[in-house]
Amino acid sequence: MEVIIAAPDELARLAAGAIEKLILARPAAVLGLATGSSPLGIYDELVRRHEEGGLSFAKARAFMLDEYVGLPADHPERYRNVIEKEIAGRVDFAPGAVRGPDGLASDLPASCAEYDDAIAAAGGVDLQILGIGTDGHVAFNEPGSSLASRTRIKTLTEQTRADNARFFGGDIDQVPQHCLTQGLGTIMRAAHIVLIATGRAKADAVHQLVEGPVSAMWPATVLQHHPHVTVLVDNAAASRL
Ligand code: GLP
Repeated sequence: MEVIIAAPDELARLAAGAIEKLILARPAAVLGLATGSSPLGIYDELVRRHEEGGLSFAKARAFMLDEYVGLPADHPERYRNVIEKEIAGRVDFAPGAVRGPDGLASDLPASCAEYDDAIAAAGGVDLQILGIGTDGHVAFNEPGSSLASRTRIKTLTEQTRADNARFFGGDIDQVPQHCLTQGLGTIMRAAHIVLIATGRAKADAVHQLVEGPVSAMWPATVLQHHPHVTVLVDNAAASRL
């Protein structure tokens, strides 16, 4: 696990640089996209490189990490729509090249299994962008998640619903109770994982991620077993290291 401490702008440039290098070497790369506020600087930097430097995603594919269950198709906080707004719709992915778990599927378990199979059929994720929750969750793998889990339905914790209420007008009752998420075992199959965390609120989670014992109670700690993880943190997020 490589830990890089730098200012947020520089972290975004480092992550975007890794993605650019991958796409230049392999235009048909498979990316793993994360929602949340943490990757937004990376996405802005990728859009800049697309518009100014000609970086093309035309042959690339991408898989999203997670999705809320039950949000209407046109809901602005549905992760599929968030990813479209933040990155997919701002660069030149081909139609259908970006996929996410289907939170409106009639058979959710079957659709989760199909999603896991689709990632494997694409050859697996080459580079996965990850954020981290204040409680150490990655994607929506909340504390207690099986370290070997696959894509499945999960119940969101009060902590995560409170953290994410800011995206729902500050009203926790508007935040869905359930989600679909790639499992920790699914995420661990990515060839390279780039986790980004900024701000004091992430300091405990980053401390556990880097220095804590591997435990399902801090799901991100499973990444200690991955052979190629880059942890990008600012001074505040690194303050407990
Ligand atoms: C959300 C997402 C995660 C994200 C995390 C942190 O619940 N499901 O993928 O990493 O919480 O969000 P943020 O980056 O906004 O702090």
